[in-house]
Amino acid sequence: MKKALITGITGQDGSYLADLLLSKGYEVHGMVRRSSTETFERIGHIKNDIQLVQADLLDQLSLIKVMEAVQPDEIYNLAAMSFVPTSWSQPVLTGEFTAIGVTRMLEAVRQVCPTARFYQASSSEMFGKVKEIPQTENTPFHPRSPYGVAKAYGHYITVNYRESYDLFAVSGILFNHESPRRGKEFVTRKITDGVAQIKLGMKDKLMLGNLDAERDWGFAGDYVEAMWRMLQQDTPDDFVVATGQTHSVRRFCELAFKRAGLHWEDHVRIDPDLVRPAEVDQLLGDPAKAKAVLGWAQQVDFEGLVNMMVDADLERYKNVKG
Ligand code: NAP
Ligand code: GDD
Repeated sequence: MKKALITGITGQDGSYLADLLLSKGYEVHGMVRRSSTETFERIGHIKNDIQLVQADLLDQLSLIKVMEAVQPDEIYNLAAMSFVPTSWSQPVLTGEFTAIGVTRMLEAVRQVCPTARFYQASSSEMFGKVKEIPQTENTPFHPRSPYGVAKAYGHYITVNYRESYDLFAVSGILFNHESPRRGKEFVTRKITDGVAQIKLGMKDKLMLGNLDAERDWGFAGDYVEAMWRMLQQDTPDDFVVATGQTHSVRRFCELAFKRAGLHWEDHVRIDPDLVRPAEVDQLLGDPAKAKAVLGWAQQVDFEGLVNMMVDADLERYKNVKG
């Protein structure tokens, strides 16, 4: 039985990845940080099937102890401060978690379990002010937020540890991926949560920022499959994971409100405070390499994703309202 360690197991991707690895017969260990209240909502359904171990990306010794205790075959480093706007209000902490945290993880691997395979959660946010369309593994980075800058550091330190120490360390450059488990501050879930509340008469207006931004949105459940496939290769390499299609925030709104029988223009209002100091206008990934080498393909298309998220939020609020 293979042993996997997932950092960020309480997050959206960590919970889907844990589901996937359990279904493949892995012994799954999840790293969690100490908190005064538990943040285990997304992993409640599997809490008896996984083992949790406490550590923090800020604390080198805690990471070394986790590696010693678990002795993992595969490590998925998904933990990060992942919300772009917060990276402007907490730029130093973002760097500590999302950038230097990766070096701390790699050092722990190098010192304790150098034959383990390591996955780093890189991001399309690194492309920022994009240099070419679509973006591939070879497109230069121009990050537009402290988060994007921190992710670029995490990306390159992973490449560097692979080249310096011969670690099996890879980065998945994942474009935006969403699900009913997405955090409610991210735009897709903010919209579908808002649609459900408006439909059920719990509120009437939804405040948003830049509706013109375009993203290449896929389903998180599909994307964790690509992470796993990257660690099953003969040689370590980096991959773009994307759908190859881009849509605006406005289009997401249109479809989400339509799913609930509503018109988005009746309810959406613009809040200038939600517009970012520097925006990533459009992301569009080319998943050709992931398709050819990993045999990976998305299962859920854009409209299927919107409908899945709206339906799940409607169901959740109906249950809450009784
Ligand atoms: P998420 O839902 O925000 O989850 C982040 C996870 O990181 C949570 O489990 C959080 O734990 C943990 N964490 C944060 N700081 C930590 C620390 N100091 N020590 C230990 N754990 C810490 O993010 P996600 O959407 O699942 O994304 C997973 C990863 O992929 C992130 O690195 C993100 O930046 C990256 N990524 C995401 C996307 C996307 O579209 N979703 C695209 C590209 C890359 P708590 O529960 O304690 O807060
Ligand atoms: N969050 C948010 N809230 N975004 C809004 C809003 C709003 O009210 N209104 C418009 N937007 C626009 C943002 O300006 C941005 O252009 C787009 O919607 C997407 O925002 P988010 O959903 O917050 O995601 P993101 O693209 O900034 O970052 C996500 O994807 C990255 C990969 O490209 C995160 O998951 C990152 O962790 C990830 O790396």
